[in-house]
Amino acid sequence: MKSVELKSIRYQYFDDTPVFDGHSLFLGIPDDQDNGLYGIIGLSGTGKTTLLSILGGQFRPDSGEVLVDGVNIYQVGDLKRRELIGIQMQTSTSLRGKLRYNLLFGLPDDVKKSYLDEELVRILTRVGLWHLFQDKKGLDTMIGEGGVNLSGGQRQRLNFAGLYIRARYFEPSLLLIDEPTSSLDELSEAAITAMIRELAEDSLTLVVAHRLKTLDEAQGILDTSLLKTQKDLEFMDRKTLEKKSKYYQDLMSGSALLDG
Ligand SMILES: Nc1ncnc2c1ncn2[C@@H]1O[C@H](COP(=O)(O)OP(=O)(O)O)[C@@H](O)[C@H]1O
Ligand SMILES: [Mg+2]
Repeated sequence: MKSVELKSIRYQYFDDTPVFDGHSLFLGIPDDQDNGLYGIIGLSGTGKTTLLSILGGQFRPDSGEVLVDGVNIYQVGDLKRRELIGIQMQTSTSLRGKLRYNLLFGLPDDVKKSYLDEELVRILTRVGLWHLFQDKKGLDTMIGEGGVNLSGGQRQRLNFAGLYIRARYFEPSLLLIDEPTSSLDELSEAAITAMIRELAEDSLTLVVAHRLKTLDEAQGILDTSLLKTQKDLEFMDRKTLEKKSKYYQDLMSGSALLDG
């Protein structure tokens, strides 16, 4: 069984009101459940990004425990954590150097060397980015200062491509994705949906959803807008969510949009 668990966690930015204060969550799925996709939604500022960072091992809670497959992720080394959890890199700092370097970041050296160029090109094509590089130096194109400057949405998609490659290799128990959306044409949008679905076959996959389509595919949905009134967090089926979440009702009626 793959599982993720929060035990009464507290997390606070500086002297702000805490985002999490005694919250718990348990989600477990049997290994043979072939769709492990779960969605996270919520009004802006209610804690979606903070939750992903806590689950990913980036923000240690002030108190409480975070368990993946029963393992306390803040009590193991980086290597073990990387086996357990796949997470997108932060977009602001991580992209520089050659395109190939960015795509293969985090893989063992021998695996990096054995990766075929055509496989990388295929993945870049799927996420709708290859056209930016094919007339330049291809996989050796420099990114960032002095090279090709990518828009926010393009960086997101490149990060997603890197996550996809690492997840295919490590097959982590838990995969955390902040879904890329900005300025996607329909083709790359469908491709990214398909790639997320592929990854969710092997990993318990939590996606901060930016498209209603993703929620259609999800086995359960967590609304962080409910954090204020509910200490026991749940991934709910649509019917239950519709009863409990005003935000979800507003999304369905079209009077609210998914927050990015
Ligand atoms: N780096 C930070 N420093 C201080 N406060 C933060 C920081 N990041 C988020 N917050 C605050 O924590 C709360 C939750 O933010 P966040 O997890 O980013 O929500 P969401 O992703 O749902 O929009 C918000 O009140 C936000 O202002
Ligand atoms: Mg956010």
